[in-house]
Amino acid sequence: MNELSPLEPVRRNVEEIGKGAKRAAELASQMLAYSGKGHFVIEAVDLNNFITEIANLVGVSISNSIDLKYQFAINLPTFVGDATQVRQSIMYLIINASDAIGHESGSITLATGAMYCDREYLDEISNTSDSGNPLNVGTYIYFEVTDSGSGMDAATLDRIFDPFFTTKDNGRGLGISAVLGIVRGHQGQ
Ligand SMILES: Nc1ncnc2c1ncn2[C@@H]1O[C@H](COP(=O)(O)OP(=O)(O)OP(=O)(O)O)[C@@H](O)[C@H]1O
Ligand SMILES: [Mg+2]
Repeated sequence: MNELSPLEPVRRNVEEIGKGAKRAAELASQMLAYSGKGHFVIEAVDLNNFITEIANLVGVSISNSIDLKYQFAINLPTFVGDATQVRQSIMYLIINASDAIGHESGSITLATGAMYCDREYLDEISNTSDSGNPLNVGTYIYFEVTDSGSGMDAATLDRIFDPFFTTKDNGRGLGISAVLGIVRGHQGQ
């Protein structure tokens, strides 16, 4: 690429091919994340750290009129997980929040916490027919994103976990599906 002069017409084509390959790779990784078949690399995940890091990264590309707020639990335990997948999930949720606000001014709040989940609670929230693998009783770490954006009507809310469901002109409808796959891959719900 560096050997091609900026004036060379073929340079544009090579750039387009590069962008296309990047988009295809990202799409493949989202679909793998959804199916839970992605490459899994285990390490201790410090969620507060990860969120700060991703928010700084994504913050550059979101509108200046959006105020990012943090409500982090202190002494949040780490959990064992795949750093790349956890980062991906955080990013998709922040981007959705930013999309929902658009160019208006608004705020996004990023909160974390730990919660003890007993059998009764887990049975209530888990769709066992779906996973066939009831979750273990214990402490779960959560990440919550709140935005002041458009919100969703009931029909949209009903479908957000469907792969390829989108209400956006240029959306692919894979963000939330990928997050679901990643959370399931981490024995969460
Ligand atoms: N924070 C939010 N506020 C309002 N609606 C939302 C929010 N997050 C998701 N949605 C709705 O859920 C749909 C699905 O979201 P999802 O992230 O899966 O796909 P997408 O954002 O449309 O496309 P992409 O694959 O590029 O992420 C969105 O199109 C939108 O209608
Ligand atoms: Mg999205």
